[in-house]
Amino acid sequence: MVKIKTAFFCQNCGAQSPKWIGKCPQCGEWNTYVEEVIKTENNSSKFSRSLTPSALPILVENIPEATEHRINTNSEELNRVLGGGLVAGSIVLVGGEPGIGKSTLMLQIALKQKNHKVLYVSGEESLQQIKIRAERIGLKNSSCYILNETKTSNIFEQIEELKPQIIIIDSIQTLVSEKIESPSGSVSQIKECTSELLKYAKETNTPVFLIGHITKEGSIAGPKVLEHIVDTVLYFEGDRNHLFRILRANKNRYGSTSEIGIFEMVNTGLREVINPSEMLVTNHEEQLSGTIIASTVEGLRPILIEVQALVSSAVYGMPQRTSTGFDLRRLNMLLAVLEKRCGFKLATKDVFINIAGGLKVEDPAIDLAVVCAILSSNQDVAVNPKFTFAGEIGLSGEVRPINRIEQRISEAEKLGYEKIFISKYNLKGLDLNTSKIKIVPIKKIENIMPLFF
Ligand code: TYD
Ligand code: MG
Repeated sequence: MVKIKTAFFCQNCGAQSPKWIGKCPQCGEWNTYVEEVIKTENNSSKFSRSLTPSALPILVENIPEATEHRINTNSEELNRVLGGGLVAGSIVLVGGEPGIGKSTLMLQIALKQKNHKVLYVSGEESLQQIKIRAERIGLKNSSCYILNETKTSNIFEQIEELKPQIIIIDSIQTLVSEKIESPSGSVSQIKECTSELLKYAKETNTPVFLIGHITKEGSIAGPKVLEHIVDTVLYFEGDRNHLFRILRANKNRYGSTSEIGIFEMVNTGLREVINPSEMLVTNHEEQLSGTIIASTVEGLRPILIEVQALVSSAVYGMPQRTSTGFDLRRLNMLLAVLEKRCGFKLATKDVFINIAGGLKVEDPAIDLAVVCAILSSNQDVAVNPKFTFAGEIGLSGEVRPINRIEQRISEAEKLGYEKIFISKYNLKGLDLNTSKIKIVPIKKIENIMPLFF
């Protein structure tokens, strides 16, 4: 007789407990424990002898070199994020909020594979819905199969028959394994279904893409619990109201995690954005105050983006600080530095910051551009749109050096900018004579003031 065994799982982080608890000791979330049925396992002792022969330890230099086979996904941006193509037998989790475009991206990748047989398993949408999407994308492919199924046993049956070379699961939250009795989307189901797919991927050397939803509140068991099982975790993010979508590697066993892919959602699916700077900067004919071009680095790629600031008199007692795409705490810090170093009475002003294109910028090198945009708006003095800025600002108002300075300079030069303002401490090793663009070193933010008078 199979004894039914249950355990409580945190729906946020996947921690397990034999009894219900109000606050998860692992992630600190409240009221996230849910009882789930798990099957009895025979784990008598950790050190018990197994019946199958064990693997033998081997010297690292004696392990035969594996030539990892990479499949070209026919998408330059995806290849780049994966570290040069899809590794055979790897499991890639594509996470993102609902509606961001995960299904569109994966279907598009599936339709682009002319030389590989692809199986797209959808537990979310009907065949008709997928057909409509495929027609919208407008690609034709006679080696892409769609399967509408959620039971893993049935899926494996079809896989055995079809022998696809790439498998896409949309989404992992909809799959159910009969070995586990909890509902689909629960932590134990997600874990079980993923391990079954992982086993298949490793045994047959077939790459598998898993789509996973995450919600803003994290109330549904997110793909977070899977992050340590899978080989690669990609996050598809971006503001839903804006055009740009960024595919970012969060973990990658086969490549760097600093690469990003940029896409644009158009009415025929996702378009790859090969040169983002040209799109992110609107070339104004007239000069506008409060608009500054910042030279930032997203992943490994230099990008020029527009920072806009609006400074106006505070109507209410409490001045407003609002920022889109830039950390609000950092903005408050920069304002405090401006107040102290440049004598600006910004406490009586409302300050709004906006990064154009809906991007979220974490590169500290944008500080200098934010400060300049604030000063420009405050003084109502426009800065030449052919000037670009890159520098981090320290608490004492010093302009600190930043990474990848050569790349930023050459990107600005390529796009026809006339001057780039950088930290004085970044000059080391730079050859000022070879570049066409004029490099202006700055030591403190006070030094930038003449630009606005
Ligand atoms: P979807 O891929 O279903 O998102 P997810 O699988 O992450 O939940 O769709 C994302 C949105 O993209 C949807 O609101 C419709 C829109 N969209 C376009 O704008 N153009 C297109 O060509 C397609 C296919 C979708
Ligand atoms: Mg979807």
